Amino acid sequence: MRTVTIGILGSGTVGQDVLNLIGRRQHIFDDLGVRLEVAGVLVRDPSKPRNVPPGTPVTNRPDFLQECEVVIECMGGIERPLELLRPHLRSGRAVITANKALLAERWDDLRAHALDGRLYYEASVMAGTPVIGPMSTVLRASTFTRLQAVLNGTCNYVLGQMEAGQPYAEALAQAQALGYAEDPPTLDVGGFDTAHKLTVLARFSADGNFPYDALQVQGIEGVTLADIEDARAAGERIKLVASLERQGEGWQATVAPRRLPATHALCTAGASRNAMVYEGEECGSLIFAGGGAGGMVTASAMVGDLLDYLLGFPGHVPLH
Ligand code: NAP
Ligand code: HSE
Repeated sequence: MRTVTIGILGSGTVGQDVLNLIGRRQHIFDDLGVRLEVAGVLVRDPSKPRNVPPGTPVTNRPDFLQECEVVIECMGGIERPLELLRPHLRSGRAVITANKALLAERWDDLRAHALDGRLYYEASVMAGTPVIGPMSTVLRASTFTRLQAVLNGTCNYVLGQMEAGQPYAEALAQAQALGYAEDPPTLDVGGFDTAHKLTVLARFSADGNFPYDALQVQGIEGVTLADIEDARAAGERIKLVASLERQGEGWQATVAPRRLPATHALCTAGASRNAMVYEGEECGSLIFAGGGAGGMVTASAMVGDLLDYLLGFPGHVPLH
């Protein structure tokens, strides 16, 4: 048996389900001949009740990171996780993260590690619906032309509830209670979370160094019940759409609310699902759809990344 020591940053919506899913998949680790040892789980308040396996070493002291072979980051934020992960990455060890804000905004610190295959981040875009895996592998053989996507579960939920007549503020409070929203939720409704995710995707399809600040971003705060009703009367729905396409020699990346025909693939995916239409010259038009927010669906991608690591597969390598 090989012992692999892991550390987890954060035990909230996602971190708790990562721990629970690791427990449920014990037989797979056994089959791989791996004994996983959780050295520590970093939180702000260790006295808070948590739905995690009994005996989980929850702490507010990050000292355990020094002994970890792999760190799974599900705490969110930018500066603090970067500060904790930097020494770990610099010593050549692996990191699994769901943190698209960190990836989008601090790429200068992370890119070399991603190119070396030490950074795993399937969960950062569309949570458990795999898009980064195919975009970083098989889809590279095709010439990318364009993508359009709905990437934020909170906005999707809010707009869906508004279609049913619920006011914006109530719908947002419900999305927060369901564990979909970022802290603060302005990241979701302001379009910034979608922009973070589109930046990550652009680095697999357009430019490996695609800068976050190249995006034009508009959120859903200005969308009213009357706008939604107008769209419905015309057989359309309003979605927060991320799009990336060629513009001359460069790329245009935008996030904005758009009216789409109700029959469009981004609408028919379902009110609570993320979706992406990916177009390439040779691969044609592909549709990905599935859960894009929530604890277990995100944990499924993070534990999948952990299995990839244990099997010896590299992390997600952006375009060179
Ligand atoms: P969350 O429920 O707010 O949990 C955050 C956890 O991190 C909490 O356990 C918190 O400790 C801990 N934490 C935060 N700041 C800390 C600090 N400075 N020091 C120590 N511990 C700290 O967040 P979440 O929804 O699980 O999201 C986590 C990450 O996953 C974010 O990057 C998010 O963007 C990403 N993500 C979330 C989803 C989703 O559906 N929720 C989906 C995909 C990706 P306490 O518990 O003590 O407060
Ligand atoms: N706040 C994000 C969303 C979580 O609503 O999509 C998943 O990335």
